Amino acid sequence: MASIEMKNIVKKYGDGFPAVNDVSIDVADGEFVILVGPSGCGKSTLLRMIVGLEDITSGDMVIGGSRMNDLAPRDRNLAMVFQNYALYPHLSVYENIAFPLRLKGDVPESEIDAKVREASKTLELDEHLERKPGNLSGGQRQRVAMGRAIVREADAFLFDEPLSNLDAKLRGQMRTEIARLQKRLGITTVYVTHDQTEAMTLGDRVAVLKRGVLQQLASPRQLYTNPANLFVAGFIGSPPMNFLPASVEGTTLKLPFGSVDISKDRAAKARDRGLLIAGIRPEHFEDATVVDKTGGTTFTAKVDFVEWLGNESYAYIPFEAPPEVTEKLLELEKDLDGDAMRTQMVISLDGASRIDAGDEAEIWVDTSKIHLFDPSTGENLTLDASNAGSSPVLEVTGA
Ligand SMILES: Nc1ncnc2c1ncn2[C@@H]1O[C@H](COP(=O)(O)OP(=O)(O)OP(=O)(O)O)[C@@H](O)[C@H]1O
Ligand SMILES: [Mg+2]
Repeated sequence: MASIEMKNIVKKYGDGFPAVNDVSIDVADGEFVILVGPSGCGKSTLLRMIVGLEDITSGDMVIGGSRMNDLAPRDRNLAMVFQNYALYPHLSVYENIAFPLRLKGDVPESEIDAKVREASKTLELDEHLERKPGNLSGGQRQRVAMGRAIVREADAFLFDEPLSNLDAKLRGQMRTEIARLQKRLGITTVYVTHDQTEAMTLGDRVAVLKRGVLQQLASPRQLYTNPANLFVAGFIGSPPMNFLPASVEGTTLKLPFGSVDISKDRAAKARDRGLLIAGIRPEHFEDATVVDKTGGTTFTAKVDFVEWLGNESYAYIPFEAPPEVTEKLLELEKDLDGDAMRTQMVISLDGASRIDAGDEAEIWVDTSKIHLFDPSTGENLTLDASNAGSSPVLEVTGA
């Protein structure tokens, strides 16, 4: 096992485009780190540079304490589990797992057998050992690919979107399985995904990338509660954080649906900055008639539409935003590669709430959870830097 230190890694492809731009990430021995971000942000490129499948333009790739920049993939002792499993269709599951050991040429048969059976037991593949990969489910094939990585006793596992070919249910199962296995084996793991749910549930820490640049490297909880900027805030969480035009006067925060009081601390960080973007997660609202929480403020708003899901419901509340804010949200939407940042709020209500479409509803909001962002830089002005991991774009380097 080994730690992986990426120091100021840059990758420019032939056309000079920096696919990875000055990225530094340290992965501790045994740690599970996720690289996440929208399509084209440089995740696969970064992973391929760790394994050695891609040249590094500049920076240092230090694995287990040694600089590996110029080492061939086979000399790095890392195991890459590919997007498409790359199993040999004519070989049995047993032989597929045994393959890397046979390739070495000098591993005794008894040792091969012991290692294959141990991996197969861990991965619950015992009853499938004699079958061919073509007859297996996607999840089983995934496990065979992992088995092959396990018997090699690699220093680290590298995954590039290993679950993207699976259906939603299996993806959920495999996710838990990979998380469990990683903990059990304690192998340093770097895992690429564009799925924020995978990122949040799998990783010890998550690195969020945007166009080749590291935005924030932090634990899932830190990312969720303390996003460094608009991009991270919009990327992590589903339904996404609401972004509203806002301004601060004294300790009063003006929002489209009315004014709320915020703490002196928060207000001080955002005062006299003119137009801001407030970020409030859907679950920090509630139907004021069912809420028994203390603190916070209530306001009245016209609800446009309600989706009832049983345990909770989502209510949609449209609002007006000035062009500066709409433009910023459009730009953000493009960066995020999808999720429409329409000028309507999504708020999550308790399943017991009777708020209906068309109602003038009394809504409660937890004002202590409101983030305030600078609309021009996207910076989170209310960031608690001591609990936000590190963010090179903000030069935050906390723990
Ligand atoms: N061989 C290449 N030649 C030139 N440019 C490349 C090459 N491979 C990738 N790129 C560019 O580098 C950037 C990052 O690509 P990369 O494949 O690392 O993205 P990704 O984050 O893995 O995206 P996805 O989620 O779509 O897999 C993209 O803009 C891509 O066009
Ligand atoms: Mg990729």
